Amino acid sequence: MSLNPLLIQSSTGDCKIHMQSLHDFDLWLPNGVTSVLVFRDNKIPEHCSTPLQATCEERGIPFKMENLQGGEGLKDPKGWQNIIEVMGQASLDRAGRVVVMGGGSLGDAVGFAASVWHRGTPWLAIPTTLLAMVDAHIGGKTAVHQGGVKNRIGSFHLPEQVIVDRSLLATLPLEERRQGWAELIKAAWLSDTPLLHQLENDADAISEDLIPSPEVLRSAMSVKVSIVNEDLHESGRREILNLGHTLAHALEMEAIRNGSFLPHGSAVSIGMVFSARLAKECGVGSDEHVPRLIQLLQKVGLPTNMGPLDIDQVLKALHSDKKTRGGQLRWVLPVNPGNVIVDTVESSRVRRVLENLERDS
Ligand SMILES: NC(=O)c1ccc[n+]([C@@H]2O[C@H](COP(=O)([O-])OP(=O)(O)OC[C@H]3O[C@@H](n4cnc5c(N)ncnc54)[C@H](O)[C@@H]3O)[C@@H](O)[C@H]2O)c1
Repeated sequence: MSLNPLLIQSSTGDCKIHMQSLHDFDLWLPNGVTSVLVFRDNKIPEHCSTPLQATCEERGIPFKMENLQGGEGLKDPKGWQNIIEVMGQASLDRAGRVVVMGGGSLGDAVGFAASVWHRGTPWLAIPTTLLAMVDAHIGGKTAVHQGGVKNRIGSFHLPEQVIVDRSLLATLPLEERRQGWAELIKAAWLSDTPLLHQLENDADAISEDLIPSPEVLRSAMSVKVSIVNEDLHESGRREILNLGHTLAHALEMEAIRNGSFLPHGSAVSIGMVFSARLAKECGVGSDEHVPRLIQLLQKVGLPTNMGPLDIDQVLKALHSDKKTRGGQLRWVLPVNPGNVIVDTVESSRVRRVLENLERDS
């Protein structure tokens, strides 16, 4: 396998995505850096950050580390404002570097804080969950919550570098690895590359420990990179990455409203199956896609349906989503693997598919 980094190109600076051990940290810390402030998920073993600290000490670069509890709370106003406070206490200047060592929640919240600190301070991302490796840390989208609405505030702020070290997945609980597979399967479905056929047909492609092989991981990352390169600021093509996410966000919000929690990957998994059903309802999908998608998602143990739903509440949550334009919700509808369309759909159709979903559960 080629060790060349993947590249996201941008007029304000490219982002290199390396698959390598953190022990090669020296390779990617640019000259002229005045200080390094690391935000580390407190579930990552401490020794993982040692190479970062050692490089800074060798080069005489001031190094600070803040441990954070990963999770959605970080994206609430208190959570991300605290991150900005820490940046202030560290007197981080524009030549400093913010490093995120954690999952998608740290990437979104710290990435957002870095994007507004001095109107944009460079950052480096070290994803530690599968979901962040194949999706959240790739592409520079940051997001935080407001008024109980998920990801309502955000920015585009590409990290300078992303270091994907698979060995960091060793401590990630199996259930969290499973969540990452939702985005990995989404990438496979969107691309119709050999990756999809490999996952569907190769008995060894999905191992029991749910840690993907370097080849599978790199293929999934490449799908995201190529879509982002076509449309960095989500003015068109990139919208297809929302496959499954329209319903997913509403279900996640519903869960919170009911005092429970629905993990993001599970919500996306249910959302993808829903989108395939909706595509069928709209006459653009095919009969065979729903069972095919369900089979693949179930192979990794992801849920593909919800229990009873308060459909009016789900519709209300759907309409508070940022994917509405002029009050109209946009859906990513799978036509075939490698071919989706993004369009508005009448509420009555959405309701009908939700009602059928409830009957089938
Ligand atoms: N910006 C984007 O483009 C994008 C894309 C997809 C998802 N997201 C966001 O990502 C978030 C979900 O990301 P996530 O699933 O990585 O969640 P997360 O960051 O909440 O991490 C999940 C859990 O795993 C723990 N953890 C992280 N790394 C670990 C490790 N190596 N060992 C042990 N425990 C570890 C965390 O403490 C947390 O409890 C959501 O907020 C979602 O909105 C963003």
